[in-house]
Amino acid sequence: MTTWFGIVLLVGLGFLAVNATAPWWQTASFYQIYPRSFKDSDGNGVGDLNGVTEKLEYLKEIGVTATWLSPFLLSPMADFGYDIADFKEVDPLFGTMEDFENMVSRAKQLNVKIILDFVPNHSSDDCDWFIRSAAGEEKYKDYYIWHPGFVENGVRRPPSNWVSVFRGSAWEWHEGRQEYYLHQFHKKQPDFNFRNPVVREEMNDVLRFWLEKGVDGFRVDAIYHAFEIQADGNGNYPDEPRNDWTNDPDEYGYTHKIYTVDQPETPHLVYEWREILDQFQADNGGEERILMVETWSPIEVVMHYYGNSTAEGAQIPFNFQLISNLNRDSDAYHYEYLINNWLSLMPNGKSANWVIGNHDKNRVGSRFGADRIDLFNILLLTLPGCSITYQGEEIGMLDGYVSWKDTVDPQACNGYEENYMAMSRDPARTPMQWTDGNMAGFTTGSTTWLPIGQDYAQRNVQTERGAALSHLNVFKKLQQLRKEPAIQQGAADVKAVSHYVLANKRYLSGNYVYISLLNIFDNIENVNLHDVFDGLPDNFQYALVTRKSIKQLGDKVSASSVTLMPYESIVLRSTTTV
Ligand code: NOJ
Repeated sequence: MTTWFGIVLLVGLGFLAVNATAPWWQTASFYQIYPRSFKDSDGNGVGDLNGVTEKLEYLKEIGVTATWLSPFLLSPMADFGYDIADFKEVDPLFGTMEDFENMVSRAKQLNVKIILDFVPNHSSDDCDWFIRSAAGEEKYKDYYIWHPGFVENGVRRPPSNWVSVFRGSAWEWHEGRQEYYLHQFHKKQPDFNFRNPVVREEMNDVLRFWLEKGVDGFRVDAIYHAFEIQADGNGNYPDEPRNDWTNDPDEYGYTHKIYTVDQPETPHLVYEWREILDQFQADNGGEERILMVETWSPIEVVMHYYGNSTAEGAQIPFNFQLISNLNRDSDAYHYEYLINNWLSLMPNGKSANWVIGNHDKNRVGSRFGADRIDLFNILLLTLPGCSITYQGEEIGMLDGYVSWKDTVDPQACNGYEENYMAMSRDPARTPMQWTDGNMAGFTTGSTTWLPIGQDYAQRNVQTERGAALSHLNVFKKLQQLRKEPAIQQGAADVKAVSHYVLANKRYLSGNYVYISLLNIFDNIENVNLHDVFDGLPDNFQYALVTRKSIKQLGDKVSASSVTLMPYESIVLRSTTTV
C-alpha cells in the first residue's frame, strides 16, 4: 500500500512513487532555450537575453518550470557559444551582465528556474588562459593538453591518430608554442587538462561565480570528453584502434573511442561539482541546485553519473536512450524496452528524465514524422520523472531548410556539400516561430542568422494558441495533466500492448488512474487494456485527445476495447479512483 505522501510502489518494472515533498527538479518540465534562435529583442537577427526575459511568461503559459539556456558567454562563436573566451562574461551579442541579472530576477518572480550551460571540456582559443598557455606562462602552461608530436623523415605528425568530432585530426599545431594542442571538437576549442588541479579549481570557481549570480544549476556540456587517457611515462598518447566503418581518417568514426571518452575518472569530476553545489546550498539556503550532464555513453556508464555509494552525482544524467535508439520503424516493444531499461538500471532512490530533442539533433517531427509530434510530447510529459523539451517542439517545429551557402554549423562546414545535410545541426536551430507576421515575430530586423522555417505562417505560437487541438494546446493540456497526483507522484507501468501500441499507466492510491496510449503506426488499432494491466477498472474517459482522434474530451470508453486511429495518441482517465 502507498500513502498520498508516499513512498515506494513497485509493480513488475513499475517505478517508485515520488514523495510529495520531493525536490523541485524531480518532476520539473524543463525547456531548452537556444538563445540565438529564441527571441531577438534588438533587431540584429540574433536572439538575446532580453528576448528570453520578454518570453519568460510564455514559459509559464506552457507550464514549463525550468529552463536551460545554451551558452551566451563571451565567445568568437566558432561553435556558436560552445567555444567560451571568458567563463564569467556575457557576450555583447546576447546582452550584458545586467540583462542576465534582470532575466534571473524576472524568472525568480515567475518561479521558473534558470540553468546555465557549463562547458568545462574546452575553452575558445581566444580565452586568455589558452593564450597564456600557448605562450608557456608557468601558471598556465599545463592548462591544456600539449605535445610536440613526432618527426618522421623530416615530416612532423600529430601525437596520435585521434579524430575531432568536427572532422580531421584532434591535434592542431601551434606555431607560437611549437607544439600540438588537443581539441576534441573544433580547432578553436582546445581541451582543458583536468589532471591539472589548478584547472579543476578554476572551473570550480566558475561554478561558484554563477551560483552567486542566482542560477539554479548547470547543464554540463560534453562531460564524457573531459578526460583522455593519461600520457605514458614518455609523455605519449596511444593511437585508438580503427573502426572498419570508414577509411576516411578525418571522419570521427574512423577510430574506436577507448582513450578519448568515458575515462574512469570522469564521473568523479561530476561528484566534485555536486559537492560544490551542495555546499553552496548549505551555506546560502534555498532550493536544491542541480547538475544535468550531457554524456553520449553506454547506459551502464551513464548510470555512474548519478553517483556511487559514497558520493552524490548529477541529479539528471541526460537520458538519451530514446534519441539514440529509436527510429521511424521502432515498434512498441522497443519503446517499452528502452523506457523500462532506464528505470531498472537507475540506482535506487534516483529519478528519471526523458529527452527526445535538442539543438544537436534534427527536429522530432522531421526525425520521426510530423504525425508523431504529439505522440512524443505525450510520452515525455506523462512518463515518471522530469521531461526536457527543446524550444519549438511544443508547436511541432520541423527542420528548417538551410542551403549549403547559408550553412554555418562547423560540423557541416568542415565537411562537404554532398553530405552536409546529414551533418548539419542548423535545421534544428532556425528561429523560433512566434507569429505568422514579419520574420515569424522572432526579430524586428530584416535578416536572421539562420533562415526562418518556410512553414512559419501555419506553424507558430500565435496561430496555434487559437487552434483547437494544435500541438501547442495539446502540450498545454499535458502540463495540466502533469499536475494530477497520479502523474506527478504516482507509480508507472509501461507496456507494449502489441507491436503498434504503447501504454503507460500512472497510478497512485486514492486517485484516478491515467493511461497514455500511443499508436505508433498508421493503422487503426483496437486494444484491450485488461490484457496488459491487472486489476484495472473498466470505465475510462478521454482526458486528452489530439487532431488524430475522432473521440472528444470526456467521452467514455471501456478499457476492454479502446480504438485508436492511425498515429493517434491519447490519455485516458479512470472514472473512479483506485
Ligand atoms: C555538445 C553541444 O550540445 C554541442 O552543441 C557542442 O558543439 C559540443 N558539445 C561542443 O561543445
